[in-house]
Amino acid sequence: MSSEPRQREVYFNGRYVPESQASVSIYDSALMFGDMAFEFTRTFKHKPFRLREHLDRLYASMKILRIDPGMSLDEMEKVTLEVLEHNAPLVQPEIDFQILHDISRGVLGPYQRVIGNERDATGPTVAISTYPMDLHLASFAPLFDEGVRAVIPRQRAIPSHLLDAKMKTRSRQHYQIANQQTSDVDPKAWAVLIDMDGFIAEGTGANVFVVIDGVLYTPERRNILRGVSRGAVFDLANELGIDCHERNLDPYDMHTADEAFFTSTPFCMVSITHLDGLPISEGAPGPIVKQLLDAWSKLVGVDIPGQARWCAEHVKGT
Ligand SMILES: Cc1ncc(COP(=O)(O)O)c(C=O)c1O
Repeated sequence: MSSEPRQREVYFNGRYVPESQASVSIYDSALMFGDMAFEFTRTFKHKPFRLREHLDRLYASMKILRIDPGMSLDEMEKVTLEVLEHNAPLVQPEIDFQILHDISRGVLGPYQRVIGNERDATGPTVAISTYPMDLHLASFAPLFDEGVRAVIPRQRAIPSHLLDAKMKTRSRQHYQIANQQTSDVDPKAWAVLIDMDGFIAEGTGANVFVVIDGVLYTPERRNILRGVSRGAVFDLANELGIDCHERNLDPYDMHTADEAFFTSTPFCMVSITHLDGLPISEGAPGPIVKQLLDAWSKLVGVDIPGQARWCAEHVKGT
């Protein structure tokens, strides 16, 4: 009997395979064109958070990209829960999972012939995978105490009539360029993209909020990914009696705000303490972010910053 630890299992084109065997053709449309939709969902206590919303967004992206995954949203949800069930025993209960849906158009017709397959395109590549978040969470631990600095890079958000950021796709070169331009200025800073009109759009993997006089403001939905975490903040703010509005925000609004923060699935919320080298208010995480994060922790039954600190203490090599 083998004493090798069991590998994580991935749902890959209709069957379960060990993660190391889930590989795509170099002619897959994902590699050729960045032509694919994806989603990142996280768990709390091993239960997916707002999975249905992530899948709704995935199916909206695929509809517009004209990618047919060959399964209904209900089936996708069922398989996702199965993937989690297969892999849950490999991970201790304190650590949560990141779930990934990666769906491409597959190998396109002309490349089928290149690889010696005379048939038409064989269909989409569908991968549903999951991995423990311990390393990610450990790296977030200091951010909950210190916040992050932000920089506006030269790279702009792409207007939605040129490439629609509302679809979550792997055509993300501009986000990478923005990240590189940002780290040239400040290696630890995160990018905040502005759109062609100079209004704040979003981060390269996060949405942005500011707090002014106790009210939350976040950019309009035009040029951004409509984040699931962004929606969660709307709901939490509503429950806490904090007003929350979508409106055009420019860098001036962020420079003069009382607080600012990013939202995204893996870390939920982190404070933005500086913009382009200038402190936002006192240049430290503020009370509204803490209030919202406490409410989020209560909602999911996990102390979100506490879990990150636990991972930082217990994960080797951090
Ligand atoms: C460009 C972009 N904006 C916003 C977000 C935040 O979305 P969510 O809260 O659904 O994770 C992401 C997440 O990856 C993103 O890539």
